[in-house]
Amino acid sequence: MPLVGERVRLREVRPEDFPLLVSIRNDVDTQGWSRTLPPDYTLEMIEKRYGGRDFEYRRDSAMFMIETIDDDLTIGSISYTELVDRMEATIGIAVLSEHWGLGASGEACQLLLRFLFVELGLRVVRLWTQSGNVRAVRSAEKLGFTVAVRHREAIFKGGGYFDNLVMDLLREEWYALHPDLEDHLVDHFR
Ligand SMILES: CC(C)(COP(=O)(O)OP(=O)(O)OC[C@H]1O[C@@H](n2cnc3c(N)ncnc32)[C@H](O)[C@@H]1OP(=O)(O)O)[C@@H](O)C(=O)NCCC(=O)NCCS
Repeated sequence: MPLVGERVRLREVRPEDFPLLVSIRNDVDTQGWSRTLPPDYTLEMIEKRYGGRDFEYRRDSAMFMIETIDDDLTIGSISYTELVDRMEATIGIAVLSEHWGLGASGEACQLLLRFLFVELGLRVVRLWTQSGNVRAVRSAEKLGFTVAVRHREAIFKGGGYFDNLVMDLLREEWYALHPDLEDHLVDHFR
């Protein structure tokens, strides 16, 4: 069962998604990470990375495709990695540029945050970005993230030097933004 919102759902990665994952990797605008990588990824590399996954009970990382509910379009991917049980995880998202600014990515992040805080009981969620990626910084701020660590002038990207940023969101900060939800862990430790 995917994670379902009003505009998008997050579902498992399927083989037919591999070409889209290649194009996200090979577009310097959608390379959300802080180092530009040469756009030389191949379908075979992506197949090797995501195609050989076995059934398992681990939950330290996950990757979902973001699909629109109205027209079943796959518009990007979202993931969490480096999960430490009941403590922390790092999220990452990349959406095809023609779908930026439509609110889909914000809802995709909210669905993942809800899963991480409500289902997995995390204490804090982090993400990495850089000060030149104004769109990513602003969309993270809208979700409640703030800058926790700033490595000044640590990134060269898009023709200039920028700060590398770790942004984070604490459990109580996320619940404060969702007054309709009750954090049962608060009572548990009282
Ligand atoms: C980051 C990403 C998911 C954001 O998706 P999006 O659909 O563009 O996000 P939103 O439209 O919800 O938010 C973007 C915000 O940045 C603002 N923004 C965009 N360009 C801006 C600029 N040059 N100056 C100031 N604000 C800017 C937008 O106005 C919007 O804020 P608002 O809603 O308050 O007006 C998407 O751009 C993406 O996939 N980028 C490539 C990968 C990436 O950078 N991933 C993040 C690193 S983990």
